[in-house]
Parts: sequence; structure tokens; C-alpha cells
Amino acid sequence: MEFPVATKTQHDQWMVESQVFRRYKLFEDVPRNAQSLMLELQRDNHVQYLTRGLRGLPASFVVLDANRPWLCYWILHSLALLGESVDDELEHSTIDFLSRCQDPNGGYGGGPGQLPHLATTYAAVNSLITLGGHKALSSINRSELYTFLRRMKHPSGGFRMHDAGEIDVRACYTAISVASVLNILDHELVHNVGSYILSCQTYEGGISGEPGSEAHGGYTFCGLATMILINEVNRLDLPRLIDWLVFRQGKECGFQGRTNKLVDGCYSFWQISDQGGVFALLQRIPSVSKEQIVLPDMGKCCTLDSSHASTTSSMSEVGKSSEGTSSQVDGTGDFRQEGLNIPFPVNFNDIGYDFINKSVEMKPLFHAIALQQYLLLCTQAENGGLIDKPGKSRDFYHTCYCLSGLSVCQHISSDADSPVLPRAVLGPYSNLLEPIHPLFNVVLDQYHEAREFFTRH
Ligand code: FPP
Ligand code: ZN
Repeated sequence: MEFPVATKTQHDQWMVESQVFRRYKLFEDVPRNAQSLMLELQRDNHVQYLTRGLRGLPASFVVLDANRPWLCYWILHSLALLGESVDDELEHSTIDFLSRCQDPNGGYGGGPGQLPHLATTYAAVNSLITLGGHKALSSINRSELYTFLRRMKHPSGGFRMHDAGEIDVRACYTAISVASVLNILDHELVHNVGSYILSCQTYEGGISGEPGSEAHGGYTFCGLATMILINEVNRLDLPRLIDWLVFRQGKECGFQGRTNKLVDGCYSFWQISDQGGVFALLQRIPSVSKEQIVLPDMGKCCTLDSSHASTTSSMSEVGKSSEGTSSQVDGTGDFRQEGLNIPFPVNFNDIGYDFINKSVEMKPLFHAIALQQYLLLCTQAENGGLIDKPGKSRDFYHTCYCLSGLSVCQHISSDADSPVLPRAVLGPYSNLLEPIHPLFNVVLDQYHEAREFFTRH
């Protein structure tokens, strides 16, 4: 009997599965105390890796010369998630460096003297918000930045990444995110951006980088967050978007970025923040009923027994809302008008704030404990830093987004006013990271400081 030859995609998938499952088997086979050690977030190693990176990088990093504000953001945000800050000298030199990346006509380039670019502008602004304090926040030239954003705005409604650059969903998100957090978002910037994002939602339900391309987790995050920030999320086909999202968590317990691709730790942020966002929204959109959402079979992808969460409870309980206050959505109001239940006319700059302050109890549509298992057992590099999947090398991007995803997993079932339950944290409770604002991906305390500062100034 002849067997069909495996495709490269199938082969790669089997390789990843075998590496991941070998790790899970090893975990299952060791004694309990060794299991607890394996689930520990290696904080000290991660902090050391990150702090060294901010001080200086080897010559091989020259290929990232146009991404230096990104390196600042990935490192500073990772440290903030771990509850760490940098010393005064490093803080001041980072602010000075980012100021030298700021273009006199607004926006930030990839390094001093480089062309201002929306992606590095987003990274620089988020870095400065993460550092916090008067010096960092007042170093942002908001009026010139607004001029830069207007210059990047395209008549179609989208944004260009830089002068004469490409128009895509990343550009829309980075422009709208920066404008929103800096309190400079207005109708001129918002005009028609929703129609552009809408034209990028694909037949699968996810969002692509530009019209006609493939749905991808990174772009879906950008598109969805943008639609939320401009109060137009209800224009998207949300049931289809949710349907696409819930099937991105595979049996390896981690997430893939697109259909038939490999699991990767960074999608723990890009994909589940989408879910956090969609979930928070679902609670406010009367016309989307639970019945419209197809739930994946969670039972199949988990190898852990419940006792590894920080207290003994059934894993199926994690994320459950208390009786009578579940994510049940009822009624048939006109959700296209209501959006986040923010009354018209909208002050765009309040939407990000209202988003986190409307307390919602969320029941995640993914297996939050299984995802923590993937992150803790498969993405921690031995000497610090986090990785995409077993066999890959550590880098600052994956460290940032694996930790961001871990934080979202841990906090997704709690509202802002109550502490995270131990059963929501896999491994020791000391694994608990700082909560983030999921639309901007900055630590919540830093977001609040920035909001206060930019409302006053
Ligand atoms: C595919 O890489 C990756 C992309 C097409 C880009 C993804 C977009 C983001 C991560 C969002 C960027 C966000 C901002 C804020 C600028 P791949 O083919 O190597 O990976 P895959 O196999 O997992 O799809
Ligand atoms: Zn990745």
C-alpha cells in the first residue's frame, strides 16, 4: 500500500508536536516537587537578560538598527510586566536616546536621524509611558506628533507607515493607539479608518494586513483594537471573528497566528488580547448571543491536573464567572449605534479608558491554564528570555509578547478591583505578572499615569 508523501507543512507540524509533547511527558513523569519547579517563571534570569540588553547589544544586532525604539519597548515593557524598573541612569539615557529619535516635524524614527515611522513612533511612545514620570512623558512633542499623524493619513481612510510608505492595518493601529493614549485623537484622524479595517476582514473571520490578504493574529489584534478605539467595532462580523479566533489554540496548548501554521508563543498576546477585547465587548453588545459563538473542545488539549494552579480547584472552573453574572448577553438593542455603550457624541480619547473601567467578568473562550502551561514549559529559555517554540533562540520580541500573553491569561477572569485568584495562576502565585491595558499593551499603572498626565497637559 502506498502512503502519500507528507508535505513540508505537515512535517514541520509533526516535529513541533513531538517536541512539545516530549516536554509535557517529561513534566508528567517527574515527581511533584520537580513539576512545581518546572512551572516556575524564571524571573531573575529574565530580568538579567533584559537589563543587560538595555545597556548594550552585540554587533549582530546591527540588522535591527532601524528598530531601536522597539528594542527599548520590548525590554522596558517586559521588565514592567515583571514588576521591575530600571535605575535612574539607564532611565535618563533611554529618554535621551528616544528624544534623539524624535523628528523635529513629529514622530519617531528607528534611530537618531532616521525617517519617522509609525511603528517606531508607537514603540517610542509606549516606552516613554512605561518609564513614566515628568521627564519621559513631557519629552513627547504631541503637537508635532499630531501633524505627523495627519501627514500619514491617506484619503482612503487608512494610514501610511511613513512618508510614501505602505498603507496597512498596522499603520491604522499604531496611529490610532498613539493618538488615543496621548489624548489627541479626533474626527480627522478617525475619518474612514473603520471602513479601511472592515475591508480587511476576510472570509475566515480574522483580519488581514491589507485588503485581499490572509487573516493573521497580529493584524487581527491591530484591526480589532483600532475598531474598539474608534467606537466602530460593531461594524465587524464579530461572530465570524470569534469563530476564527477560538480555533487558533491548538493541541500544543499555544496559539498559531493563522490557519495551518505552527504554534508560536508571541500569539499568546496577539490572539488572546483579541479575545479579551471581543469578550469585554460581547458583554455590552446585546445583539450578539452566546449561541452565535462556536466553542472549541477545551478538554482535549490539556495534560495538567488542576492542582498545579496556585490552589486546588477544577481547571474547568478557572475563568468561570460567579453565578447569575456570567457573560450571558441578552436583548436586541441596536448595537451598531451603541458600541461600547458610550453615548454619542463620543469623545474618542475616553474610549480606551472606559474600556478597562467598565468592570466585566470574563469567561475566556480559550483554555487560559493550558496556554500558561505552554508558555511556562515550552517558551522559557534556560538562561533567561522567552522563545517562540522549543528549539528556537530567545529574543526580546518573544520575551515581550510571551510575558504579555501570560499576564493577560492570569488576569483575564478578574476585574480591576479584585485580586487575581490563585487558581487563575498556573505554578506558584509568584508567577503573577502586572496587569496590562490590552488595547495599548502597557502596564495598567503606567497607562493610568499617562492618562492623568495627558489629560492635564
Ligand atoms: C507572519 O510571520 C507575520 C506577519 C505577517 C506580521 C504579523 C503582525 C504583527 C505581529 C502585528 C504587528 C503589530 C504592531 C503593533 C506593529 P510568519 O510567517 O513568520 O509567522 P506565522 O507562520 O506564524 O504566520
Ligand atoms: Zn513569534
